[in-house]
Amino acid sequence: MVLGGWLALSHAVCVTAPSCSPDEPFLLAELKPGRPQQYDWKASCETWSVAFSPDGTWFAWSQGHCIVKLIPWPLEEADLSCKASERKTRGIKADVRGGGGSKEKMLECGQIVWGLAFSPWPQSGAKERDGLPAPGRSCLILATGLNDGQIKVWEVQTGRLLFNLSGHLDVVRDLSFAPNGSLILVSASRDKTLRIWDLSRDGASKQVQVLSGHRQWVYCCSISPDCSMLCSAAGEKSAFLWSMRSYTLIRKLEGHQSSVVSCDFSPDSALLVTASYDTCVIMWDPYTGEQLRMLRHVPLPPALDYGGDIHASSLRSVCFSPEGLYLATVADDRLLRIWDLELRTPVAFAPMTNGLCCVYFPHGGFIATGTRDGHVQFWSAPKVLSSLKHLCRKALRTFLTTYQVLALPIPKKMKEFLTYRTF
Ligand SMILES: *[C@@H]1O[C@H](CO)[C@@H](O)[C@H](O)[C@H]1NC(C)=O
Ligand SMILES: *[C@@H]1O[C@H](CO)[C@@H](O)[C@H](O)[C@H]1NC(C)=O
Repeated sequence: MVLGGWLALSHAVCVTAPSCSPDEPFLLAELKPGRPQQYDWKASCETWSVAFSPDGTWFAWSQGHCIVKLIPWPLEEADLSCKASERKTRGIKADVRGGGGSKEKMLECGQIVWGLAFSPWPQSGAKERDGLPAPGRSCLILATGLNDGQIKVWEVQTGRLLFNLSGHLDVVRDLSFAPNGSLILVSASRDKTLRIWDLSRDGASKQVQVLSGHRQWVYCCSISPDCSMLCSAAGEKSAFLWSMRSYTLIRKLEGHQSSVVSCDFSPDSALLVTASYDTCVIMWDPYTGEQLRMLRHVPLPPALDYGGDIHASSLRSVCFSPEGLYLATVADDRLLRIWDLELRTPVAFAPMTNGLCCVYFPHGGFIATGTRDGHVQFWSAPKVLSSLKHLCRKALRTFLTTYQVLALPIPKKMKEFLTYRTF
């Protein structure tokens, strides 16, 4: 129903599943912006970011032309009425219901939108204050990073603008909230700095810290799930790792041959991946700075080539799967790849033109991607049943650093497994 109304405005395009092996990601749905004429056609049309709320009930799409679409998740039945197969329904109709009959929202940001990040708005102890979300409601906020250096923070349920955060002098390329719900926000900008904001602060000044040190545009920032570390990636060959406790530089991660454009931590914070224009993803141990794996995006053998004439495999985006054993990458060679970290090889490919960003659904099962044309696509991804061994490792590594594991009185083989030297 909700989507019925929405369909009139935008064109949801469903595609038939190609005949391929069950592991291949296939296109579940594609959404394209159907823009009424009044929008500024000079403003760029790229989808620089897509995001799911941490609880999986909302999807945010920076759909170009200064607009962010907030879509309750999962997509309504109407959108999937042209379903190609049963698998499609299973894949996308996830176990969570979208924001309880919520309606989709269109946020007019007034500037090209680059970064997006959701956070829950804590309800306990929150006094109702002017202009702040009222306690008691199901509250979620979305931060949007804009072309002029501003960050606008919105209440998701109502689409109301809550704050403007000013400070950056150039494009706010990426945003990341501390996953513990503390309302600490990190922004990465073309002004070569990162800024830390505390949205729980009263009054106008919510800026806590400016992190300087990068010599080029900062493309990406990612806070570890345990909230202890921050990784930033910039147009230089090293990624920086910062402490979220002291806001100081822990180390530079040297290894890439070109700009580092994307980074992500594993769900237990024990691994970090960085992706670069040099066509490689490097998997690091963030505690020691060691390189554990290098995943090269080489041109495909002809039999698997989807006919693209572009082979420059510069990477655009990398993200971890929610169970922490797979990665998705988007590259300029028109492929979405899914990698098995144990095998060190891509286990699935899908043809994807003009890809810019990718993100896993927080409960797994599919991946959302955004393109230069302002489209979003939803792809099936293998749903993985983790081994008991891996579940134990994940639970332990959520609170043990690499050095703490190495100090345990356990056999060497077990240490190697727990520190991801083996899988
Ligand atoms: C934020 O800035 C816009 C102009 O960019 C202004 O219209 C709006 O009132 C401001 N909102 C808040 C909540 O400060
Ligand atoms: C959440 O994480 C932030 C960033 O590391 C930290 O400053 C804050 O104290 C943490 N809050 C809680 C409640 O753990």
